[in-house]
Amino acid sequence: MPSTTTRGLIAPHGGTLVDRLAPNADELRKEAESLPTITLSPKQSCDLEMITIGAFSPLTGFMGEADFKSVCTDMKLADGNIWPIPILLAVQDAPKVGSRVALKAPNGVLQAIMTVEEVFPHDKKLEIPHVFRTEDEAHPGVAQVMSEGDTCIAGPVESLTVCVDPDGPEAFLDFRLTPAQTRDAFSERGWRTVGAFQTRNPIHRAHEYLCKCTQEICDGLLIHPLVGETKEGDIPAKTRMECYQILIEKYFRPDRTMLSVMPAAMRYAGPREAVLHALVRKNYGVTHFIVGRDHAGVGNYYGTYDAQNIFDELDSDNLAITPLKFEHAAWCKACEGMASGKTCPHGPEEKIFLSGTKVREMLREGKTPPMEFTRPEVAEALTAWARG
Ligand code: ADX
Repeated sequence: MPSTTTRGLIAPHGGTLVDRLAPNADELRKEAESLPTITLSPKQSCDLEMITIGAFSPLTGFMGEADFKSVCTDMKLADGNIWPIPILLAVQDAPKVGSRVALKAPNGVLQAIMTVEEVFPHDKKLEIPHVFRTEDEAHPGVAQVMSEGDTCIAGPVESLTVCVDPDGPEAFLDFRLTPAQTRDAFSERGWRTVGAFQTRNPIHRAHEYLCKCTQEICDGLLIHPLVGETKEGDIPAKTRMECYQILIEKYFRPDRTMLSVMPAAMRYAGPREAVLHALVRKNYGVTHFIVGRDHAGVGNYYGTYDAQNIFDELDSDNLAITPLKFEHAAWCKACEGMASGKTCPHGPEEKIFLSGTKVREMLREGKTPPMEFTRPEVAEALTAWARG
């Protein structure tokens, strides 16, 4: 079993839940007026929110060079804690070491003040092949890093805000719980074991099957969609949230299911991102994490189960959260239910497989995906979105 705190919840990564929301916001806002400003990219702004709320614990700011190198080559922070993906603030023009800078979100909102403790080269040649297992610039995560600045600045942040667009359509304030808040919610519900489901898609029948299997073995299920930056072509978070709520209301037990959003950006780094997704969920108080087929993958860059196998290389005591590995699941016509290679003897000709691309194509053409693939209520919401 994972290590637990006295409240019965799993300990955060590194032992302490970070909180970088500054108590002296007015003072900092005044100071920022006379500071140089850096406008963050959407990904950097998402990363900053994740640091602020402690979802990236033990990080207290953007990474320095020792952490960066060690994360790339050994999948560990310099202090030895597992960490699979660099969290960098790469810029074009670096301020001086010792200076303070105002960090603004892409919409101009003042997000934090940072004390620059380190300036170092952004070694993309080191980062890209280690993190993405490819250097192909057609990979959206690789392209993103290639477009970033050549210098990184590191240091602790003092944040002024959590959600930078609280009135926007993708704020989901009622569902934007911090790790401290999900931990409180789990305690209140008396959940000792919690399984989390990460997703960047609407929940289809295969996803639902993974969630329900998890509910068979955990006290509760946290449906935890990623709502930060995603790539062109992914279904917008607002539409997905409508689908999740419709589905949960009709098909899930309210006392054993919780919906909350995670404001992180997708990197599409497959195996390494699966590890990041798991560690972050540990910070949210989750004990079990669903890893299905090609988790956080894109195109054909990763093998179907690479994102599961990577967990076998890790120190499970330090990881602490338990990966729940699921085989490719689909509706089986012969079984008349959801099944996978672990549970059913029938071949692919009996299975209803639909790729995300195929579903989007169907929706664009005004066709409704079959009920064996998507619940009709979800299909209806998706069709309405596709029609605009
Ligand atoms: S992801 O980028 O968040 O991984 P997605 O939303 O498609 O993408 O998947 C959410 C989770 O469901 C991931 O763990 C993924 O591996 C798993 N998954 C998606 N489809 C299937 C499937 N048909 N069978 C088994 N696991 C699946």
